[in-house]
Amino acid sequence: MKGIILAGGSGTRLYPLTLVSSKQLLPVYDKPLIYYPLTTLISAGIKDILVISTPQDTPRIESLLGDGRNYGVKLQYLAQPAPEGIAQAFILGQSFIGDDEVALILGDNLFYGGGLRSQLKEAAKEAREGKATFFAYFVKDPERFGTIAIDEQGQLSGIREKDPHPSTSYAVTGLYFYPSGVSAKAKGLKKSPRGEYEISDLNNLYIEKKQAVVRVLGRGYTWLDCGTPDSLKEAADFVHSVQSHEGLYIGCPEEAAYREGYIGKDILIERAEALSHCAYGRYLKALTEATYLQEGRIV
Ligand code: DAU
Repeated sequence: MKGIILAGGSGTRLYPLTLVSSKQLLPVYDKPLIYYPLTTLISAGIKDILVISTPQDTPRIESLLGDGRNYGVKLQYLAQPAPEGIAQAFILGQSFIGDDEVALILGDNLFYGGGLRSQLKEAAKEAREGKATFFAYFVKDPERFGTIAIDEQGQLSGIREKDPHPSTSYAVTGLYFYPSGVSAKAKGLKKSPRGEYEISDLNNLYIEKKQAVVRVLGRGYTWLDCGTPDSLKEAADFVHSVQSHEGLYIGCPEEAAYREGYIGKDILIERAEALSHCAYGRYLKALTEATYLQEGRIV
């Protein structure tokens, strides 16, 4: 399975923060925003990842993340000439995806919660079996998002993009898993009135054919889209509070890679030494020394 991080867009809702800087490189407490979606894809078991951003930001992101060897993954980069919609990622990324299944995550989405890893791996399995998976999350401002619509029988009937009167309060998060063939479907899309290849139009094609699964991330999960100053601050406060309380980091790609077995202690130690002057480096060092148990029963 392949992975794509879509990290472009104009970031106008964050001006002046993003006038000369990429949104996905802004800090969320102690790490650049893009670390969080990268960690999510690594936790899904994905090792082959394409990062798509704007022509000016792609080289900056590449100089931060490199070729992926620090995380035991292969990272490639591609520029999106203009922000013509999220679904355009599958058209631009067609040769990268080939005949594989693919997961797409938006570069400004942060996911956290016990059990997320297994939900992601289930979604990857469903993609191999021919189904798309979308994740839904209860929000207080559903009109800002794509939302899940349900028919009288309680069945999934579609996704409505920025509906001023949504029928549910479940937003579709920016993490999508697709079976083989998504690029061909994306190529058949028409631009919406706002001039974009809409991700919700693509997702509705799978829903119409009953080839989609929605997984509701319930209480205990956190999903944040960091597209506004308030949500960026909320995300930073959340990360700070969890990390200082639990002592475990959110959005640490080296840790996710180590736990997945993508990198060994040697690379982790190398990284910890390179970053030894900051708390992040000391955290990596502690990871190499401590014993961490998997969640669940010990028999
Ligand atoms: O965050 C979840 C929401 O993301 C979903 O609920 C919506 O269904 C989906 O359309 C999207 O809504 P947004 O209003 O957040 O989309 P936005 O245009 O802000 O784009 C989201 C991210 O994707 C943003 O970080 C920039 C990036 N992007 C966007 C477009 C349109 C690109 O890199 N290229 C693009 O062409």
